[in-house]
This record gives sequence, C-alpha cells and structure tokens, in this order.
Amino acid sequence: MTSVPHLVQYQGSKRNLASDILQFLPKTLDRLVEPFAGTAAISIAAAYQKISQNFWLNDLNQPLVELLELIVKNPEKIATGYENIWNEQHSNSLEHYYQARDKFNRTHDPQIFLYLLARCVKGSVRYNSDGLFNQSPDKRRKGTQPDKMRKNIEGISRLLKNKCRFTCLDYREVLSTVRQGDFIYLDPPYQGVCGNRDTRYFSGISFDDFVIALEDLNRKRVAFVVSYDGKRGNKTFGNTLPEELGLKKIEIEVGRSSQATLLGQEEITIEFLYLSPSLFRNQTSEIESYISRSRKQLILMEKYG
Ligand SMILES: C[S@@+](CC[C@H](N)C(=O)[O-])C[C@H]1O[C@@H](n2cnc3c(N)ncnc32)[C@H](O)[C@@H]1O
Repeated sequence: MTSVPHLVQYQGSKRNLASDILQFLPKTLDRLVEPFAGTAAISIAAAYQKISQNFWLNDLNQPLVELLELIVKNPEKIATGYENIWNEQHSNSLEHYYQARDKFNRTHDPQIFLYLLARCVKGSVRYNSDGLFNQSPDKRRKGTQPDKMRKNIEGISRLLKNKCRFTCLDYREVLSTVRQGDFIYLDPPYQGVCGNRDTRYFSGISFDDFVIALEDLNRKRVAFVVSYDGKRGNKTFGNTLPEELGLKKIEIEVGRSSQATLLGQEEITIEFLYLSPSLFRNQTSEIESYISRSRKQLILMEKYG
C-alpha cells in the first residue's frame, strides 16, 4: 500500500499493519468508527480500499482531532501553515523546536502540533504531569519536507472529505452510541511489547472498563476488531482479554526486533488482533481463506472461548 497517504510517524500507528488488519473487516461497511483514532491510519486505508464511505474519528487528544479535521476539511491551510513553520527553522533548528513547543503548550494550535509530531523523537507524543507536551526533538532529522507533507495532506483530504465525523470524547462515550451496522476498530493506548507495567491500566485506561465496553458491544451485536497486546520471542505482553468475550485471536507477525537481529537472535514480534463474535459468526471459512492468501504470515489461533 505504498501510495496510501499518511500523516506522520506516530507511535503506535497501525499504518504498516493496515492492509493486514483490513483483511478481517467486511468488504463494505456502513460506517467505520475509530474511538482511538490517533492518526487515523486504518480509516485512511479503508477509504483508500473503498471499504467505507463514512467514518467517525474520535480521540481524547483534542489538538490531534483538530489537526485531523483541518487536514480533511482545509488541506491548503494546514499544508501552508506547516510549510511556514518548517521554513522558520533557522541555523539552530533545535532551538526553533523548543520555541514551537512552548508556543504549542500555550495555544494548543493544531498547526504547531503537526510540526512537533513531524519533528519529535519517534513520533512519540509525551506529556508531563501538568499536561504539557514535553517530547524532545529528533536531533538527526528536521521533520518531513513541506512538499511531501502537502502531498500526504492532500491525499488524506481527498479520501476523507465530507465523509467524517470528528469528536474528542472518552472512548466509552463513543461506544455507548454506536449501533448495529457500525464497524468499530479499537486500538487503545499501547501496552507495548517491552517495559514494566501495571496490568490494571494501560496509559490511563482501566482494563476492567475496557472489557465492560467490549461486553456491551457484544450485547448490542456490534462488530469490532481490537488491536491489543502482542509478544516478542516467548514473552507475551499485556493482560489477556477474558475468554467470555468469545473473541477470535489472530497473530500478525510484524518482524524481528532490530536488537534481536543485531544479537543474531530469532526474536519475532507479533501483534494480536481480536475479532468479535458478530464479525466471524457465519464467516469463518472466509476468514480462513483471507489468512491463506495473506502476504505476511498470519496465524489463526484456536477460537478464543
Ligand atoms: C495506539 S494509539 C492509536 C493509533 C492509531 N490506530 C493510528 O494508527 O495512528 C491510541 C490513541 O488513543 C488515544 N486515547 C487515549 N485514551 C483515550 C480515551 N480514554 N478515549 C479515547 N482516546 C484515547 C490516544 O490519544 C492515542 O491517540
């Protein structure tokens, strides 16, 4: 999917997995809802493949949602805004970044947010306890060239214009109003495949609340897919979703960690995808055939529950 436009590198973005994930969605949808939209990689890819003509993009991060909305509705303005900020980088481009970051923390201007996203370390959005964006600049890069950014912005706008609803709500509010016919793609804040973590929470979201929200979707017979946890080598990360949810678990191989390759180890990173019962009910044979046709190695696990 090389010509699918994308916004920026965003930590946890599903851009590289989008074509794999989309194989498990129905071929057409009334509406694709992303309660944890991030950079909307899945909606953009779904629009590109004409799977849906109607999208609901939600994320708790308000400047991010405002940025997505600007990109879709007013691509010229945001592309020019980015170009202007990018061109201001003087001989001391690190200093310029810190100035832009200060200004963003005062104004929450989505145009500056785009520059920070394009310029910060690993596209990783970090805030301190006062809610101030505090990620450092990437010292080796100056951020996406303005002409490349413009092409991506225009491409995203073409795909999503007049097809989206944008909100900045807690994911539970979104899920409380979805209905049969909607398709939900859930990509909660990443539990990640490394590091220690408190298993009751992942980046502020309570595991129990998340499970309750999924139970509710099942009760309403709303079809959904969840990107959730994964494993590297023999280590599995994240809390296992309860069997009672009746989900089907798919493993997607996303590659070897560079660290492991350096050490000559065969450590493969796998991301898990969970399909809701209302999605695979009556569709099992189709899903199996998707898997056998897949480019990457996809392993269908035993039915979960
Ligand atoms: C793993 S990222 C999603 C990445 C996205 N799939 C993409 O391709 O860019 C998780 C997102 O959830 C958002 N988020 C965190 N807590 C949330 C909440 N309670 N409700 C809605 N969104 C939330 C974060 O701001 C973040 O953008």
